Amino acid sequence: MTGRPEHQINKDETLSKDGEAVPAPRKVFVKTYGCQMNVYDSERMTDVLAREGYTATDSVDDADLVLLNTCHIREKAAEKVYSELGRIRKIKTERAREGKEMVVGVAGCVAQAEGAEISRRAPIVDLVVGPQSYHQLPDLLRKAKGGEKVVETEFDIDAKFDHLSEKVEKPKLQRAPSAFLTVQEGCDKFCTFCVVPYTRGAEVSRSVSQIIDEAERMAASGVREVTLLGQNVNAYHGDGPDGETWGLGRLLRRLAEIEGLDRLRYTTSHPRDMDDELIEAHRDLKSLMPYLHLPVQSGSDKILKAMNRKHTRDDYFRLIDRIREAAPDIALSGDFIVGFPGESDADFEDTMDLIRRVGYGSAFSFKYSQRPGTPGATMADQVPEDVKTARLAELQALVTEQQKAFNASRLGMTCDVLFEKKGRLPGQLVGKSPWLQPVQIDAPDVLIGSVQPVEIVEIGSNSLFGRLIEGHNETLSQAPDLKEVAFDA
Ligand code: 5AD
Ligand code: SF4
Repeated sequence: MTGRPEHQINKDETLSKDGEAVPAPRKVFVKTYGCQMNVYDSERMTDVLAREGYTATDSVDDADLVLLNTCHIREKAAEKVYSELGRIRKIKTERAREGKEMVVGVAGCVAQAEGAEISRRAPIVDLVVGPQSYHQLPDLLRKAKGGEKVVETEFDIDAKFDHLSEKVEKPKLQRAPSAFLTVQEGCDKFCTFCVVPYTRGAEVSRSVSQIIDEAERMAASGVREVTLLGQNVNAYHGDGPDGETWGLGRLLRRLAEIEGLDRLRYTTSHPRDMDDELIEAHRDLKSLMPYLHLPVQSGSDKILKAMNRKHTRDDYFRLIDRIREAAPDIALSGDFIVGFPGESDADFEDTMDLIRRVGYGSAFSFKYSQRPGTPGATMADQVPEDVKTARLAELQALVTEQQKAFNASRLGMTCDVLFEKKGRLPGQLVGKSPWLQPVQIDAPDVLIGSVQPVEIVEIGSNSLFGRLIEGHNETLSQAPDLKEVAFDA
């Protein structure tokens, strides 16, 4: 193909050195709210936009395109987006005065839930795009630049997965040592407090071969740890290359064979989908890390029923016993909601009792927040805010105590640490323990991207401090020289 004469290129293009019309260099600023799936989606959006000539910037002031990848899971998420849009409006106006264009897009679950309402309330928004339509971003952007107010909130998740896994060559040689990989999206569980089934749609799993391809590419570009993502990741049921449907346990077994992938993790799981195959994977796979995020939300049978969780507290205890039998050193984590409608003092006590009996390495806890359109929002007996506040403080004090005890139990232990990046102090690296704790160690930069045995010598409030085990320097000479390499994170 011959290049078009310069006067024929449009304003989004420039001429390459061999006279081809290519996309003009542009900058995109992406702000991510919420869960890891949004982090993954933001990376994929950046990849798709890279093909259109966009490079990522962390300054909104010099961005040609601003994308807010939003979250709708709890209160005020939408309000936060509108106030951020207020700030962006000023910058957009300023740029317009200088004759520069700025396209503003809202993506993610607020986009899905609010749709066209967003650009009505915030006229600076040119583009509203739901989580299932990111592969269409280039086309949508072209329309938005043509002056159209674009709203795309269709559910076509298969198309999204197909397109986003087309390669996507990163301009960088090397990726960060730890990365996310979405294997499943959406949820059919309809817990009565949760918006996810409405914003992310029904459960869809990617095929095994797509996932293996992506994981192999990741390993080849320096990724050592992959965290499989899904709103309900352990409900994974993807088409296998043998024509059978594979569950998460089987998928993990296959991923464990990929050379260079030292560590596997997955999140987030539902207790009802922890099947034998997955529990056995924890017993058998060395690379499957001893950490499990298994939200239970409440310890009261009455509240679990009202939440439509479809299991009892005893089911959960029995499950934890089976998991601990298979993987005795596993660190458990969970999510808890306090103040769900109808939660009495006794129900809350049941939750506290469950936490004491299970013993968590860490946990996330939230005050119940009425989400429009969910059954919980209109239930009777909403719990007053001050009661929620008091319960949350009590629960968090207990969980903090457990977390401290769990961290303290690592003192003097030797464990493998994946070195991820430079620390704040010179000569210091930050890595991750098998139990997902940050570990700080004095170590040379060349170790970034490798797994090393480390002795835990001190316990801090949020991280552990370690010392490289002497006599393990042979890996130093094997570690790739990454000094010159830029990392994602
Ligand atoms: N109110 C409070 N917490 C919620 N979560 C989900 N929906 C709500 C809500 N309406 C919490 C749950 C879930 C986590 C991701 O967010 O604990 O596991
Ligand atoms: Fe929401 Fe998780 Fe329940 Fe699905 S299983 S409805 S994502 S809390």
